[in-house]
Amino acid sequence: MAEAEAEADAEGQPVALCASSALEDGGLAHGWDVLEFGRPARAFVVRFDGVLRAYMNRCLHVPVEMDWQPGQFFDSDKRFIICSIHGATYDPADGRCVGGPCGRGRLKAVAVREQGGVVHWYPSRDIRPAPPAPSV
Ligand code: FES
Repeated sequence: MAEAEAEADAEGQPVALCASSALEDGGLAHGWDVLEFGRPARAFVVRFDGVLRAYMNRCLHVPVEMDWQPGQFFDSDKRFIICSIHGATYDPADGRCVGGPCGRGRLKAVAVREQGGVVHWYPSRDIRPAPPAPSV
């Protein structure tokens, strides 16, 4: 089990997110809506060194979403997750802050797993599926 999976509090039924092939190593993330403690929030999953890593999309410096364009989380070298606001830098392998104004914390991990070519998310006690958007 990947570290990000182990740290997350997986207990819900899996939710299909996207095809495994949609997540290239160091490439664009897949983001999705969740409810964290009942409040709307966003999560994202990327592939790094061949392993899926998923976190809440919330910087530790200021609680805002970090991608400068939807799904763009990696720095130019594709080595770190970087916050687009003030440049806080995180290790994709464990979400730990490694530079910039994010202190000693780490991004909150979300449990994900690949099964049959599909990426699944495992909701936890704190992070639940968001209700479907109303149809127009
Ligand atoms: S809000 Fe992310 S570095 Fe400041």
